[in-house]
Amino acid sequence: MAYRWKNTLTPADVTPEHMWLNRRALMKGMMGTAALGSIGGAAFGQDEELVPNSFEDITSYNNFYEFGTGKGDPARNAHTLVTDGWEIVIDGLVDNPGTFSVAQLTDGLTEEERIYRFRCVEAWSMIVPWNGFELKDILEKAGVQSGAKYVAFETANRPEQMPGVRRQTLNWPYREGLRLDEAMHPLTMMATGIYGKPMPNQNGAPIRLVVPWKYGFKSIKSIVRITLTDEEPFTSWNDANAREYGFYSNVNPQVDHPRWSQASERVIGGGLFAKRIPTLMLNGYENEVAGLYADKPLNDYF
Ligand code: MTE
Repeated sequence: MAYRWKNTLTPADVTPEHMWLNRRALMKGMMGTAALGSIGGAAFGQDEELVPNSFEDITSYNNFYEFGTGKGDPARNAHTLVTDGWEIVIDGLVDNPGTFSVAQLTDGLTEEERIYRFRCVEAWSMIVPWNGFELKDILEKAGVQSGAKYVAFETANRPEQMPGVRRQTLNWPYREGLRLDEAMHPLTMMATGIYGKPMPNQNGAPIRLVVPWKYGFKSIKSIVRITLTDEEPFTSWNDANAREYGFYSNVNPQVDHPRWSQASERVIGGGLFAKRIPTLMLNGYENEVAGLYADKPLNDYF
């Protein structure tokens, strides 16, 4: 695997998971002493080392409404999702449309591990070591045509495998979208795993989007269709409540959700040390992506 992003890379790229877990436990144990910095830095600064959450945290506290609306529902229910023989359609304004397996989609591309902050619009956060590919590389293989301005994504819609879609909690299938320049940004990933293991079903197996500077609901799971289009795509949460969930949904501590503050976030897995930390502009990726929004006032980010 290759490692390209300064701000997102740590020695985890060569450290087995159990070492990370031990290291995290060590850091937890040292909280409250002055020694934290001496073992590799704090977890949450913009240019500081990120310490991932445990595999357990990441796979037991989920949002995946196709399997229920409780945080524990996806872990309990998503084993019924059949990922063997998974196919992804790429269509719309591309030179090479078609139906591909995950292996075909990613054939010849560089797999990477990226340790990213993950900030849910509900004001909780984790740090996740994703494995996967730059979406840009996948789109370039598909051959994006000059008229394309947006990318639309769609999750599988399988009532027989997904108990949550039997109820109309959202207008299924779950759909999301990005502007083409956001989709082509090198931070934007199609993730196929966590901690070097295949993506657990509850996290969006076999392949999902990860856009680290946007609220988590933009990072659509278990994708079956990617469509290049010239119109802003339909997105499920915007459809459900446009006043609360915008198309952009960039993390912005200065723009509150209509029903709660976005100035800070609750760190999942903190245990005894659970705390709120300040939310960073563009989730800490301001240096990388603020240029995409040079023409937009800050409060337009949502
Ligand atoms: N994708 C689908 N298909 N269905 C969902 O309900 N939830 C979103 C996003 N992608 C969701 C989805 C939300 S609100 C969040 S915060 C993240 O997935 C959660 O990802 P995680 O469970 O891997 O932490």
